[in-house]
Amino acid sequence: MKLARLSRTAAFARTALFTALSLACLTPALADQGASPDQRADKLLKRMSLEDMHHMVQSYNDMMTLQQPPGSMGAAGYVPALPKLGIPAMQQNDAGIGVHNYPIDQGPGKQPKHVRGEEGNTTPLPSTLGIAASWNPQVAYAGGRMIGGEAHRQGINVLLAGGINLTREPRDGRTFEYLGEDPLLASRIDGGEIRGIQSQHVISTIKHYALNDQETNRLTVSANIDEAAMRESDLLAFELAIEDGHPGSVMCGYNKVNGVWDCSNTHLLTDILKGDWKYPGWVMTDWGADHGVQDAMAGTDQVSGIDHTTGFSLGQTYSSFGAPLLQAIQKGDIPKSRLEDMTHRILRSMYAVGLFEHPPEKKPLDVEADALVSQHAAEEGIVLLKNDHDQLPLHKDIKTIAIIGGHADAGVLSGGGSAEVWPIGGPAIPAVKGPDWQWKVYDPSSPMKSLQKLLPNAKIAYDDGSDPAKAAALAKSSDVAIVFATQWTCEGIDQPNLALPDNQDALIEAVAAANTHSVVVLENGGPVKMPWLSKVDAVVEAWFPGARGGEAIAGVLTGKVNPSGHLPVTFPQGEQQLPRVLITQEQEVNYNIEGAAVGYKWFDKKNLQPLFPFGFGLSYSRFDYSDLHVSTQGDHVTVSFKVSNVGQREGKDVPQVYVSLPDGLGEAPHRLAGFEKVSLQPGQSRTVSVTIDPRLLATFDVPGHQWKIAAGSYPIQVGHSSRDFVLNGAAAVAASTMAP
Ligand code: BGC
Repeated sequence: MKLARLSRTAAFARTALFTALSLACLTPALADQGASPDQRADKLLKRMSLEDMHHMVQSYNDMMTLQQPPGSMGAAGYVPALPKLGIPAMQQNDAGIGVHNYPIDQGPGKQPKHVRGEEGNTTPLPSTLGIAASWNPQVAYAGGRMIGGEAHRQGINVLLAGGINLTREPRDGRTFEYLGEDPLLASRIDGGEIRGIQSQHVISTIKHYALNDQETNRLTVSANIDEAAMRESDLLAFELAIEDGHPGSVMCGYNKVNGVWDCSNTHLLTDILKGDWKYPGWVMTDWGADHGVQDAMAGTDQVSGIDHTTGFSLGQTYSSFGAPLLQAIQKGDIPKSRLEDMTHRILRSMYAVGLFEHPPEKKPLDVEADALVSQHAAEEGIVLLKNDHDQLPLHKDIKTIAIIGGHADAGVLSGGGSAEVWPIGGPAIPAVKGPDWQWKVYDPSSPMKSLQKLLPNAKIAYDDGSDPAKAAALAKSSDVAIVFATQWTCEGIDQPNLALPDNQDALIEAVAAANTHSVVVLENGGPVKMPWLSKVDAVVEAWFPGARGGEAIAGVLTGKVNPSGHLPVTFPQGEQQLPRVLITQEQEVNYNIEGAAVGYKWFDKKNLQPLFPFGFGLSYSRFDYSDLHVSTQGDHVTVSFKVSNVGQREGKDVPQVYVSLPDGLGEAPHRLAGFEKVSLQPGQSRTVSVTIDPRLLATFDVPGHQWKIAAGSYPIQVGHSSRDFVLNGAAAVAASTMAP
């Protein structure tokens, strides 16, 4: 049997070798499979004409419509194949939370149609903010792997994923597409997601580089910030995530940084990304974020979103990398070596991720398996924020439950914009058009129906919440009232404030007044205020929970799932606590107000009490920490401690390690320096060991162009959140410096 298997394997290997060799003869791109991606890219480059290279650096707009370039498949971007060299077409598709499926407006009152499939054909994960709330890079990896696999089976080989703009502005309409306010947490989650996508031979981007932290005036606003502050915050998130995930491409953003467009920004692209960080992949622009041929010299390698009928940049009457690039090379204004480098970088990533050897194949999806990946991610990311009187989990003998609002009888809300995924089977209720090209969509996964399955003996009644008095009457006659409160957010539009929209606060107040056993489930894009918090027993933060959000929510409500999510963003009490009370409407936003002290760091520095702190999340079990050991070797500090499940249920905990810099150094009193998600049976303990990245002990020394660690004693805390420390120690660290 073993022998037979061996010889079958050998025969297979021979066939594979033969196929590879014959393909290599036919297609130059497939040659030299043992060589490194750089070597292979160089070799292929030698066979390319100026026109071939020029072809590679322009990507056509493939969105939404009738003017799709021939040969494209309705993704967001398209670079046609170069068959004579064996270079495949690039089909670049959005993937904020799943493989985006472009809705095409059919006119007033009509549901949109889709470029690929009428009823949607890909699986939405929870919002990436919800995945960040899992504090589990493996969950992010599994999600990335799932959406990468779906892309591959749809003929797509580049995903526009990996959004990691820090939550400086919690009213940002794209907060749900990003990973919260901390560079370490965001980068570990992003790194996991990107590795997952690329494991399927699909390139992932990381975006939007850099400081594209609000949607208001997103095409024009300048984010102004000092060098050290950006290196220690937003740029650190990119730096760490790129090291972890190795994304094939970086997407430069729409905005300016310190007065210079992101995609024209030599300092960001050439000095920092490609210089200091030695990033080997390519920089693609956001759609229409190019500003002329000079972007090539700044470090942009590919312009996206070009109108194939005119050759103009998206929404413009000029071209950046079309004829002007060739003319600039002919005139000697741009050296030919730059075009070679641009092309090399693109080919290098295509080789590194395996686009040549593993072309996408159209195959049916495993819808059930993919939905389970999404459900698992939602279950790990749901955060239990409040649970007075052990209101949750719901008792299995409960007799009557009122479910109120949020279309919970039908589905769960998802975020809008280029990250949105039209769900398989179509939305739970007709989609509603947003103010522009966005759609408000509910995924067909009803929390109410799932709850009924898990509590078959309970009588569950639904009220849509449109009339608070009517909802309160139902609540009054029920054992428990569960209000589903929603906040739809989307790309292109910021929230005016942190309040739940549509009078939902009044609805919750009315229900809570009628029933002292009230629970609020939130389906929202980012932090919201909770003026009713003291009047309800329990609050469950479910984010936009994705394809199986209803099942995940019901699991948490009934205790089938022990909640283990923790907040990746601070929930403020109100806008007055933010660095900017109102979202900036000007053309400049001053990020020097908070500098690198983003989110909890701002709250700690200003000694403000948030509604819920960063890192917070309850469980149906209890966890304790003990036996702290801190050791130092060179500039690496290792923190180990014991985590014990001292409650009655199996559960997952997220112990968090925070570090303080000595002598008042650093942007804030504490920085998250490490974490781990640990699964424990009741009574079980495990030792966790976390090694701190030296950059988290350092400040950025601008004149010295280096990271600098000061000698001193660094307080170390281990806790349940950024405001709840259990163990205290210190690390004795010697002075050192590191390359930027
Ligand atoms: C968004 C990007 C997206 C691109 C292509 C832009 O408007 O900012 O995140 O990848 O469109 O759809």
